[in-house]
Amino acid sequence: MTLAGRTAIVTGAASGLGRAAAVTLASEGAAVVVAGLEPDGLAETAGLIEKEGGRAVVAETDISDVAAIEAMCERAKSELGPTGILVNDAAIYPYGPWDEMEPAAWDRVFEVNVRAYWLCAKAVQNQMLQQGGGSIVNISSITFFTGAPNLMAYVASKGAVVGFTRALAREVGPKGIRANAIAPGAFPTRATDIHPDQQELWATTLEGQCIKRRGEPADVANAVVFLASDASSFITGQTLLVDGGAFLH
Ligand SMILES: NC(=O)c1ccc[n+]([C@@H]2O[C@H](COP(=O)([O-])OP(=O)(O)OC[C@H]3O[C@@H](n4cnc5c(N)ncnc54)[C@H](O)[C@@H]3O)[C@@H](O)[C@H]2O)c1
Repeated sequence: MTLAGRTAIVTGAASGLGRAAAVTLASEGAAVVVAGLEPDGLAETAGLIEKEGGRAVVAETDISDVAAIEAMCERAKSELGPTGILVNDAAIYPYGPWDEMEPAAWDRVFEVNVRAYWLCAKAVQNQMLQQGGGSIVNISSITFFTGAPNLMAYVASKGAVVGFTRALAREVGPKGIRANAIAPGAFPTRATDIHPDQQELWATTLEGQCIKRRGEPADVANAVVFLASDASSFITGQTLLVDGGAFLH
């Protein structure tokens, strides 16, 4: 168990890749704060962790709310011990023509997908410093590297996550905190359900990948564990594409 004794916070843990990350971190010994909206989904994730003998605390948290983020971090510390791992996973992805989007909708994407990642990092920093360091994993997206139609604010926000990760790595590296990003390719979650032509999406995805199978949320979760653990102790500021070799650079 590579993460025994560590406390992790995972946002967006009610579903999809966040749920897989929370469950896999717990299977490696971390005690996990399962954070996000959707109480039923959060409880289900916590149940999956507890069924395997792990420790989970459900923290219903809207990450666009500063006070809620602070409360989530306080609960992590008081119920599980100081946070050493933060996985910024929660995101929104409104779909539609770029020139029909309203400014408020654009701002909301950046509020949830970028500003909240910064706020969560800021809120856990002291807990990480208390233990001499920590690891922050931010979820970006392959769409930043490739572009994607009908997702402009989302794609731009995922580029911002890469920039935020690099700047954060510079800021906190000297203090023993690492920050990396993961850019997933296409995975079967609600985020890919939004594509109107599913058959075309998965056919194109498989065609573009070196590895000819569909990605599973566990593929991303295993990368999260690697970046959260000491196995990656000399890696920071990086963005790891977990995409079956779809984007090679
Ligand atoms: N599935 C993919 O193919 C794919 C590809 C690239 C990147 N990603 C990224 O992976 C991450 C997880 O997405 P997913 O695919 O699991 O989709 P998902 O919709 O299942 O997960 C998003 C989660 O974020 C939560 N969330 C949304 N707004 C929130 C808020 N204000 N406060 C707290 N939680 C909030 C949702 O409740 C949900 O649980 C996202 O960052 C997404 O951009 C996914």
